[in-house]
Amino acid sequence: MSVDIPWEQLFEAAKKVRERAHAPYSKFPVGAAVLYADGSVVTGCNVENSSYGLSVCAERGAFAAGVAQGRSKPVAVAIVVDTPTPCPPCGMCRQVMLEFAPKELPVRSRNLEGDEARYSLGELLPHAFTSDFL
Ligand code: THU
Repeated sequence: MSVDIPWEQLFEAAKKVRERAHAPYSKFPVGAAVLYADGSVVTGCNVENSSYGLSVCAERGAFAAGVAQGRSKPVAVAIVVDTPTPCPPCGMCRQVMLEFAPKELPVRSRNLEGDEARYSLGELLPHAFTSDFL
């Protein structure tokens, strides 16, 4: 499934949008880029709030923007964070991604040094709650 995914382009997009993050409280800017089956790329950055609990992660921002832009079928996600080791998406973002993507979705994360971690969404969120249970 990872064949033909333009990872370098995706990571460039994630790195670029990370610069737009609004993270004055955590000082932990995150960028995410989602590739869709139609070849389009939708990005997101974390947007924090003085009422901390209202903050939105980069990944959820990207997926919400994808919905608003009429995108469907996410096929790859790239995340960029400035951490010593590449940072996986948080649990809430894993659940949100699974709403729209299959468990085979490749998710890759890089730090600014270019170190990379690779996951599938299913590895990140085993035994997931999905609409199949409803
Ligand atoms: N954050 C993300 O944007 N994505 C994640 O998967 C982990 C955490 C953000 C939320 C908050 O703005 C900051 O990183 C610190 O937790």
